[in-house]
Amino acid sequence: MTNKLKYFVGNWKMFGHFGSIKIIYQIQHLYKKFRLSKKKNKIIFCVPNTLISYFSKKLKSKSIIIGAQNCTHHENYGPFTGSVSASMLKNVGAKYIILGHSENRSSGDSNYLIKKKIKLALNEKLNIIFCIGESKKDRKKIFAVLKKQLKGSLPKKYDFNKIIFAYEPIWSIGTGKIPKANDLIKIFNFIKKNIKKTFKTKKYPIVLYGGSVNGKNIRIFSSVSQIDGFLIGGASQSSKKFIDIIKNYYK
Ligand code: PGA
Repeated sequence: MTNKLKYFVGNWKMFGHFGSIKIIYQIQHLYKKFRLSKKKNKIIFCVPNTLISYFSKKLKSKSIIIGAQNCTHHENYGPFTGSVSASMLKNVGAKYIILGHSENRSSGDSNYLIKKKIKLALNEKLNIIFCIGESKKDRKKIFAVLKKQLKGSLPKKYDFNKIIFAYEPIWSIGTGKIPKANDLIKIFNFIKKNIKKTFKTKKYPIVLYGGSVNGKNIRIFSSVSQIDGFLIGGASQSSKKFIDIIKNYYK
């Protein structure tokens, strides 16, 4: 049920300007220095729309892949002030896109809208990082919540190779609180089995964990073999913190 390839995905949220490419260069430098490419892993940075074009040109054919953090549910061009579509993001160089992040859900992204976005991103052949997760108050009915999010947003038949999942408990994002390893095993098994069964996929899906991941607690996560990688917010804004996570994961 596990995937040997591990993902380390940075989610910069509303952070960064052109000069912040220095952080990425430093990460590349440290990645080489510590020979982290010897392990099977993929490094992706989902940056603000304003940086996608610049970063993807600068990092062409390098070890770090650039992605976006969200897109509009509107199709084609139109009178949608401030909106950016999946095709526009693809056009400026994004290879991945985060969809369904709880910060976007809390500002209006319903399962239905996320489904529209997933379809549009798939049309553009973008790779999707689809986030699901329960709030603190929903912790008791976590499995029902996750099931609803998955069913409500995934197209019936989707390109299995194009969507990876990120389990991000809302109460863990940016709070320093993390789930217990035993709970993670149950939750990851549930997510993987549910997707395989509901969508009749041949393999188990790739599922990442996100929420307060850092260089210390990563050892707890690395003990859970069901976790295929990490979506990293705050700690991805520092080259040292980000590299510490990868280094310590393999320790
Ligand atoms: P965090 O954010 O690592 O700062 O908790 C994770 C996320 O929101 O993807």
